[in-house]
Amino acid sequence: MYFSRSAPLCLLSFTLLLHIVVGLHPLFHICSSLAGNYTADDTFDMNLNKSMGSLFYKTPPTGFGISYVGKDPDRVYGVAICRGDVSSADCKTCVVEASSEIRKRCTNNEGAIIWYDNCLLKYSNEEFFGKIDNRNKVYLYNINNVSDSTSFNAKVKELISGLSNEAYLSQLMFATGELELEKSKKLYGLTQCTRDLSSIDCKKCLDGAISELPSCCDGKQGGRVVGGSCNIRYELYAFVNA
Ligand SMILES: *[C@@H]1O[C@H](CO)[C@@H](O)[C@H](O)[C@H]1NC(C)=O
Ligand SMILES: *[C@@H]1O[C@H](CO)[C@@H](O)[C@H](O)[C@H]1NC(C)=O
Ligand SMILES: *[C@@H]1O[C@H](CO)[C@@H](O)[C@H](O)[C@H]1NC(C)=O
Repeated sequence: MYFSRSAPLCLLSFTLLLHIVVGLHPLFHICSSLAGNYTADDTFDMNLNKSMGSLFYKTPPTGFGISYVGKDPDRVYGVAICRGDVSSADCKTCVVEASSEIRKRCTNNEGAIIWYDNCLLKYSNEEFFGKIDNRNKVYLYNINNVSDSTSFNAKVKELISGLSNEAYLSQLMFATGELELEKSKKLYGLTQCTRDLSSIDCKKCLDGAISELPSCCDGKQGGRVVGGSCNIRYELYAFVNA
């Protein structure tokens, strides 16, 4: 079982109980309260439709795609990214699902973001490429506590900090790894940035996420800080594809 709570910078407040079993369930979505509204079949709607179509074929081959369609003020900026270990086929499934779901959940909204285990999809009427997204963020955590939170938190920070240093220097801006705990228990971790960020901004984004671990996931058996530009995750079980 997972709980989610809105991060401090998130504009909406939620209390949700999420049961995350299959990757096809959205983890979370946020409809922007700052972007404008469009109406069915107007220029923005048509551009959005084209933008999503473009992300379907651009994203799966490399796991990352951006698109911009149309002219201001109806221009649509879109981005999709799949988790670094996800196959092209699963990536495509996720992006297609995300684009349809986000349009249902944020109907008429000119800015929105949706997260899944396997992918993230975001669009906006404002250009956001290359900028760290500090607005869209959510914490997810396992409600169960570890017994020794102080040493456990330190292990989590050690693992995730190491993976952050790996991710920002890697081409995919993605890293996974594990750390031995006592009694043959292991801690598994993941870090990832959207690849429109520069290497330095990826590092900055991940450092920011790590600094939020105490407010997110203090002593929790699993946790994630999930943002619009980067995310971190740790669990006591393996969760990435080998
Ligand atoms: C968009 O529509 C919503 C609900 O109809 C409204 O609350 C919001 O103020 C509108 N946003 C803008 C930017 O006009
Ligand atoms: C765009 O709109 C057409 C016609 O309504 C629809 O068939 C198609 O699936 C849409 N494409 C996307 C990517 O939503
Ligand atoms: C975990 O710890 C928190 C804070 O001490 C407590 O409120 C919560 O009930 C604990 N959760 C479980 C599942 O025991």
